[in-house]
Amino acid sequence: MTVDDYYKNGVVILDFGSQYTQLIARRVREQKVFSEILPSETSLENILDRKPAALILSGGPSSVYGDEVPGFNPSVLDTELPILGICYGLQLLAHHAGGSVESAGQGEYGFAKIEVDDSTGLFSEVSGSSQVWMSHMDRVTKLPDNWHILAHSSNGIIAAMANEDQSRVATQFHPEVAHTEGGETILRNFLFKIADCASTWTAGNFIQEKVELIRKQVGDGKVLAGVSGGVDSSVVAALLHKAIGDRSTAVLIDHGLMRKDEAKQCVKALSDGLGVNIYAYDESELFLSKLEGVTDPEKKRKIIGNQFIYSFDRIAGEMGEMSFLAQGTLYPDVIESGVSKGRTAHVIKSHHNVGGLPEDMEFELVEPLNELFKDEVRNVGRELELPESLIERHPFPGPGLGVRIIGEVTKERIQILQEADQIYMDILHEDNLYNEIWQAFSVLIPVQTVGVMGDQRTYENLLGIRAVTSTDGMTADWYRMPPETLTKISNRIVNSVRGINRVVYDITSKPPGTIEWE
Ligand code: XMP
Repeated sequence: MTVDDYYKNGVVILDFGSQYTQLIARRVREQKVFSEILPSETSLENILDRKPAALILSGGPSSVYGDEVPGFNPSVLDTELPILGICYGLQLLAHHAGGSVESAGQGEYGFAKIEVDDSTGLFSEVSGSSQVWMSHMDRVTKLPDNWHILAHSSNGIIAAMANEDQSRVATQFHPEVAHTEGGETILRNFLFKIADCASTWTAGNFIQEKVELIRKQVGDGKVLAGVSGGVDSSVVAALLHKAIGDRSTAVLIDHGLMRKDEAKQCVKALSDGLGVNIYAYDESELFLSKLEGVTDPEKKRKIIGNQFIYSFDRIAGEMGEMSFLAQGTLYPDVIESGVSKGRTAHVIKSHHNVGGLPEDMEFELVEPLNELFKDEVRNVGRELELPESLIERHPFPGPGLGVRIIGEVTKERIQILQEADQIYMDILHEDNLYNEIWQAFSVLIPVQTVGVMGDQRTYENLLGIRAVTSTDGMTADWYRMPPETLTKISNRIVNSVRGINRVVYDITSKPPGTIEWE
């Protein structure tokens, strides 16, 4: 099968600026169906060139009758391909088919109850009454001719509608959001009952597609792959190796802010295990000197991010002609940095691998994972036969321990944190909890508190420990850690790590907190 074949069974999603567009793509991928997001103004010809089996029109913040509507070619609606409109997509379908769309006053946000009126097609096997996720200002007040209502919400608003043969179906609510009951069934009904999509999109096919795309992008060029010790960048290095062999060189910049022994373990797994061409550089003194006296979290992030690229630049220069830089940027990194196409998301934190790039950077970026969520990357890693210990490793931020040491980063503080964190991780493995937790780590809080050890008064640092459950890092809940494990962690750390005399457990979810402390 070639990449072109996947499209034939897949879906084109037209993006009207919804915050959920990537989530729609992810839900489609979960059904092993290929999907591609294209800007709303893409021409019908361009869409048909890809030979998709169906179209989805995303939601978006605009009003179909407003002055600032996103670009769109109505001829797209003349295609014979089945179309699913979601939220704004529903209103667009209604508007173009001769229905009326008006402001719904307050709109509907959050949970709503809907009743199903037609349980064939889109709603087959969906419960007659269910809870869905709504987020809209406008509503359809008059159906187009020959369309009918599939479901209505408890306050009488049209929640879903279709034309006669259901080749055009639409929901006012968001089936892609996890809170929508029956959302998965609705999407499956569209993909497999209404459209003729096929479940051919697997991790193996993803790898094949990316290998082809990397070869196309890079041509005869050479690529530096930045490796950090985690699963994302290791998957990128392995992909690059598969695509272009020794024309890709993996480089691990040891900024001195990694977990204990992590640099060594990663180099071993990639070189011995997969034959990846990898070099490690100890740049820790350089990073530490730049961080001296700096306490502001955003400044620390920028310094680490910039130094990272400068080090790369220098090393690349030493290596000869390198025109590309490959990074393990994932989709959540892209949106949290507010740089996603067509979005105006606020910058929450300037993530290392996106926000920290200097303007005069001389590399072209290769970012094969930037549409994926973490769990999807792990599946790709398994397919590439990376060792399980690396695949299951909890996510680690680009700026490393630099954002887990509150205030100034010093050599001594790094050592204390590495020792303590190693004990924490060892105990999670001992108690078989590591894989139940999405991410766990320690934070050094250089605030001294009083303690007593033996008969001695102590006055040492505080250590925060955090463990969260999550599926993609965008939202998270604190992990209900068994008290026996907490006791073990606290005792062992306070007894064996000099410089820490008190351990506290973080019980903040995201939102309102973030996962990292800085
Ligand atoms: P926050 O703290 O934003 O973290 O809730 C969400 C996830 O992202 C990781 N993280 C980063 N990853 N570069 C990265 O590659 C960064 O600068 C960065 N900052 C946070 C964090 O560890 C968590 O998994």
